[in-house]
Amino acid sequence: MVSYKKLGFVNTRELFKKAINGKYAIPAYNFNNMEQIQAIIIACVETQSPVILQVSKGARDYANQTLLQYMAQGAVEMMKELAREKKLKPIPIALNLDHGDSFELAKSCIESGFSSVMIDASSEPFEKNIEITKKVVDYAHKHDVSVEGELGVLAGIEDEVSSEVTHYTKPEEVEEFVKKTNVDSLAISIGTSHGANKFKPEQCTKNADGVYIPPELRFDILEEVEKRIPGFSIVLHGSSSVPVEAVKMINENGGALKDTVGIPEEQLRRATQSAVCKVNIDSDGRLWMTAAIRKVFVEKPAEFDPRKYLGPARKELIAMYKHKNENVLGSAGKA
Ligand code: G3H
Ligand code: 13P
Ligand code: ZN
Repeated sequence: MVSYKKLGFVNTRELFKKAINGKYAIPAYNFNNMEQIQAIIIACVETQSPVILQVSKGARDYANQTLLQYMAQGAVEMMKELAREKKLKPIPIALNLDHGDSFELAKSCIESGFSSVMIDASSEPFEKNIEITKKVVDYAHKHDVSVEGELGVLAGIEDEVSSEVTHYTKPEEVEEFVKKTNVDSLAISIGTSHGANKFKPEQCTKNADGVYIPPELRFDILEEVEKRIPGFSIVLHGSSSVPVEAVKMINENGGALKDTVGIPEEQLRRATQSAVCKVNIDSDGRLWMTAAIRKVFVEKPAEFDPRKYLGPARKELIAMYKHKNENVLGSAGKA
């Protein structure tokens, strides 16, 4: 058993309390490789933002769970060095299992030093979801690890997370779920979805500048949830905004992405004013990384040193994470 506290991670409890009171959200960024984790740390230290590093089941399978674990530990040391160098404060870092799908997986992460785990049994019937989530909570709390549960199912298809349609969270279920499981935070489904293909242009209206505006998130559900569990930590998954600039850059450099629309940043900003205190973003990073790499390949076809295309990709990621912290989630300066 490795204690996350010894490794320098924090659990999410204190982070969430401060975020709800301060009306901002903690960024939860996924990583699978070195450039992504470097970019997250650099951006969060330079903007002085707390951060949640997320590892999905797919990431563990892709990059090797042990290597990812050590990369996250290395990130804590890198953060300290960077903060010292720049005469800035060290930032709090939590390490979270994203979309854990079994007790065994959650337990293995807790034993290897994760400070937080998500158990996503949201596709199970309500009672079964309670049972699985409670089992994880009972184990996690013995080690002071925080647990995120989920009610409602987001649409979207990715490696390990998939549903064709949205099942909105039923506000009438949240109180019983939270009470019976003793979970620390709750992911809800209010119209966000996983992946880069969130809304088709035909589902949207156009504003005066010709920008596609998707149907608004179900803030009515969020409000109803907040009434039933006042002050309880709420999480939004599927919160990438799918920047048109990134999609354009990909397609101008040989890509073939369909026109797609993400979650408008104003709506995410609005959500951070509520009990939403954790916002998950992965796809936007994937898009910017792909855009930067494609651009190098087109402009310098003779280039074959990975540092020469992964370096520019890392630069785009740093800019994106800083933008999210400063202009969308409001977490900058809250370390
Ligand atoms: O919500 C899912 C995350 O974006 C992780 O995706 O399962 O493809 O690693 P993944
Ligand atoms: P996006 O696909 O919108 O980035 O969502 C990521 C996510 O929810 C990770 O759990
Ligand atoms: Zn998710």
